[in-house]
Amino acid sequence: MDDIQPTTDPVRPKAPLRSWFDVRGRSMSTLAFALNRLTAVGLTIYLFLHLSVLSLLVRGPESWDSFVALAKHPLFLLLDVVLLFGVVYHMANGIRVALVGMGVGHARHKTLFYVLVGIALVLFVVGAVLIFTG
Ligand code: HEM
Repeated sequence: MDDIQPTTDPVRPKAPLRSWFDVRGRSMSTLAFALNRLTAVGLTIYLFLHLSVLSLLVRGPESWDSFVALAKHPLFLLLDVVLLFGVVYHMANGIRVALVGMGVGHARHKTLFYVLVGIALVLFVVGAVLIFTG
C-alpha cells in the first residue's frame, strides 16, 4: 500500500481549453474533422438565423426592403463569403466522409480530400467574386 503514489492523469492535457485551439502536430484527418464540425455548427446557426430573417416577410414590404438594403452592405457581403466557405467546405468534406464510409476511395482518402476540397475552393473563389460583383 505504501508504494501507491498520487499520479497525474496522463490523458488529460495541462491546458484543456488551449489544447482545443492548438493545431500543431494534428493529423490532416483530425483537422478536416474539426473544420467539418465547426462549419456544421456555423451552418446550423445560420439555418435558424435565416428562418428568423425570413419571418420579416410577414411584417410587410417595408421591413423586408430595409433588410435587403442592409444585406447589400459590404460588411454583410463579407459574412456571405464566410457562409459560402462553410457551405463548400462542409459539402466537399461531407461527400468525402460519405464516400469513404461506403468504402469508396478508402485507400486514397487523402487524395480524395485534396481533390474535393480543391474543387470546393474553386467554387468558393468564383462564388466570392460573384457575391461582390454580381
Ligand atoms: C451538401 C450538403 C451536406 C453534406 C454532403 C453533408 C455531409 C455531412 C457528413 C458526411 C457529416 C458527418 C461527418 C462525420 O461523421 O465526420 C455531416 C455532419 C454534420 N452536418 Fe452536414 N452535410 C451537408 C450539409 C449540412 C447542412 C446544410 C447543415 C446545417 C444546416 C449540416 C449540419 C451538420 C451537422 C450539425 C453535422 C454534425 C457535425 C459533427 O458531429 O461533427 N450539414 N454532414
